[in-house]
Amino acid sequence: MTASGARPPLPTNPVLQELGGYPLAAFQDMARAMRAQPEVVYDFSIGDPVEPTPAFIRQALIDAVPAVSQYPTAAGLPELRAAIAGWVHRRFGVTVDPDTEVLPSAGSKEAIFHTPLALLDAAGSRRHAIWGSPGYQPYERGALFAGGASDRVDLRAETGWLLDLAELDIDRLDRAFIAWLNYPHNPTGATATASYLADQVAVARRHGVVLGSDECYIDVYPPQGPQPPSVLDVADGRLDGLLVYFSLSKRSGMTGYRCGAVVGDPTLIAQQRIMRPNIGTGSPEFVQLAAAAAWAEDGHAADRRRIFQAKREVMLDFCASRGLVVSGSEATFYLWAQVPGGDDRAYAETLLEHRIIVSPGSAFGPSGRGWIRLALVPDLEGCRRAAAVWGAAIDAGELPT
Ligand SMILES: Cc1ncc(COP(=O)(O)O)c(C=O)c1O
Repeated sequence: MTASGARPPLPTNPVLQELGGYPLAAFQDMARAMRAQPEVVYDFSIGDPVEPTPAFIRQALIDAVPAVSQYPTAAGLPELRAAIAGWVHRRFGVTVDPDTEVLPSAGSKEAIFHTPLALLDAAGSRRHAIWGSPGYQPYERGALFAGGASDRVDLRAETGWLLDLAELDIDRLDRAFIAWLNYPHNPTGATATASYLADQVAVARRHGVVLGSDECYIDVYPPQGPQPPSVLDVADGRLDGLLVYFSLSKRSGMTGYRCGAVVGDPTLIAQQRIMRPNIGTGSPEFVQLAAAAAWAEDGHAADRRRIFQAKREVMLDFCASRGLVVSGSEATFYLWAQVPGGDDRAYAETLLEHRIIVSPGSAFGPSGRGWIRLALVPDLEGCRRAAAVWGAAIDAGELPT
């Protein structure tokens, strides 16, 4: 109590105040209410597909549940690290040392968010995290919660939603401790070329900036290809300064399992290994064994690609037939469409009235304004029906064209 008898304010982290709530909380509330109703909703808003996790992965989990389950280690099970290294070799033709260059994580989100804790000297001169907007929030938030600062780069359709480090002032590079890339990209589905990635690796190395490449969608692309490249493809077998983030969430339909991996510079991986036991984020070992089974098998990822492609074609055809301009949308399970009239929020709200839920682009940052993101989550028939309902709303003049 203070002298006046009033209760003193309880402590709070000012970062929470700065972040505020979700930018489109009211929209989210409406969408949530709609999902709770018994009538059908066409929900393209959440990047969490509903295709079942392959049976062999579920069985691997069941088989691995022991009578006594003890604490997992931060380094993860050797069989899981070997399976991740095996996938890296099959997918990219790159050999990585499972003991020193691979770190399992509980999904890629927590690994991304926690990374600054091992890299950032909050009292030093390199406190900034460079990241592209529209983009995934943990790049910024992980830096802020660790005592660092955010350096947002606004991405544009005209440059393919690519974050080009070479275009930044040298001061910005010199005050950064990490630069985040994310190709294939959420929310736009844009992909990068190998030569673009090579340029980014070179700039980051020249300036001593760690390059964090979030490649959680690297195995989600149209089956006819091309396969999106990784920074591992262009690093000349040298991992220095690189941390690459992978995930089973999208590749294997395992969002609920929380399984990811960080592959990269052994010095940086060693730092993460020292830091991470302080958090306690290791996945349970029976989950790690299911993850090992998933990383060791590629057929199911190919099956998922075919499913997403069928849905992608339905929605791309719809957009083309209605003159909706699509940008990016080359990989991931997202389509990124420009909203006629430019008011993404109003457009999404009108779609809500027709029980179609899409994400307004401004939810992903100011440069997402004027766009909407469709996550290809409804099944094929759901996509077809949603397209019919959406088209009828356009015909009825309820949506701008
Ligand atoms: C760009 C990006 N990175 C990382 C993640 C986190 O995925 P997970 O933690 O499930 O591996 C997501 C999830 O949607 C994402 O979109």
